[in-house]
Amino acid sequence: MSQLANKRIILGITGGIAAYKSADLVRRLKERGADVRVVMTQGAKAFITPLTLQALSGYPVHDELLDPSAEAGMGHIELARWADHIIIAPASANTLARLSQGAADDLLSTVCLASTAPVLLAPAMNQAMWSHAATQKNVRVLTGLGYHFVGPAEGSQACGDVGYGRMVEPNDIVAHLLESSTTHSLSGQHVLITAGPTQEPIDPVRYLTNRSSGKMGYALAQSAIAAGARVTLISGPVHLDVPDRVTCHGVRTADEMYEAVMSHVGTCDIMIACAAVSDMKPASRQHAKVKKNEFTGDIKVTENRDIVKAVAAHQDKPYTVGFAAETNDVMTHAKSKLSDKALDMIFVNEVGENKGFESDNNAGVAIWNQGEREFTSMPKTRLADEIIKLIGENV
Ligand SMILES: Cc1cc2nc3c(=O)[nH]c(=O)nc-3n(C[C@H](O)[C@H](O)[C@H](O)COP(=O)(O)O)c2cc1C
Repeated sequence: MSQLANKRIILGITGGIAAYKSADLVRRLKERGADVRVVMTQGAKAFITPLTLQALSGYPVHDELLDPSAEAGMGHIELARWADHIIIAPASANTLARLSQGAADDLLSTVCLASTAPVLLAPAMNQAMWSHAATQKNVRVLTGLGYHFVGPAEGSQACGDVGYGRMVEPNDIVAHLLESSTTHSLSGQHVLITAGPTQEPIDPVRYLTNRSSGKMGYALAQSAIAAGARVTLISGPVHLDVPDRVTCHGVRTADEMYEAVMSHVGTCDIMIACAAVSDMKPASRQHAKVKKNEFTGDIKVTENRDIVKAVAAHQDKPYTVGFAAETNDVMTHAKSKLSDKALDMIFVNEVGENKGFESDNNAGVAIWNQGEREFTSMPKTRLADEIIKLIGENV
């Protein structure tokens, strides 16, 4: 089970530009199995509609304190008792000020005051508002009162300024929450993860590759961070943001991935080979673009080195987990790979037109010498939590 499965989370949204990111945050929390209820300030409703949040969370949005009909349902005290966690994202300067005073003059501040659940604040505001002495004093007071903070991040802002004040990305808020609610199953471990496809050049403009998006490997990196690990990610070319606190080395070819991985093998405790490494590469690489009339009709290929096999054969072998994407005889192929490559665990999934690669969901079976566990289709982020937990139990 994901650490957030069935967790009851109140997401408070306040009046700031970053409120549009809250819609994505609801999705990220729900895909990890959390039960999410949204509380909006009046200001927040100027930036994003309650209807959007209702549709995403699956529940009506709570936005009124002094509303007899709301109190007849889940009123402020019930909401406060219901929550396992409260997240306020974005948290405006105004809300930070009111919370630091112990105000209870709207639903969100009253729920925070009435709840014993941990409150995580993701501030978002103009950089001058954030660095203002009044806001910084409020942050110190709130920290002293036991509120937790994630961010803000540095960068360019909607108003044109540059500096600290951007809300951190929804995935980083989830990672922070996971980290604070996890048992740290990989605490202190160095985990090396490969992700994405490789590109094997034919000439300067063409290459052999595959449909891997890298989403599974990146999700594993984020889950491993949340489980307390130090993570090094060796990534093929993908269009994904590197999760917070992950050290990432970008590579292009299988040879580059091999070299990058082998340079870390001696120092890692766990290696998760999630990349879809090309089995073959063009036997020779043309240094000028091959013209249409020069095509012979054949591309001669040679085999690439087997990275995960080399890791498992290393004298300082880490706990080695392979991934196998198969289109047929899935279990038979996976079991022979487990033994042929001397892996400690293999995760096998069926890939095809609408399965595995590129999709946000994945399903499969983890096999190790003492057992196997099947995972039904679920978001890759949640599956990553499950796989990391399983590795933590077996390593
Ligand atoms: C266009 C616009 C954008 C704003 N963006 C922010 C913001 O990013 N962060 C912030 O703290 N306040 C921002 N404000 C000001 C807040 O909306 C205002 O302080 C409001 O009272 C916050 O109320 P709340 O904390 O109850 O939601 C913005 C105001 C406007 C008009």
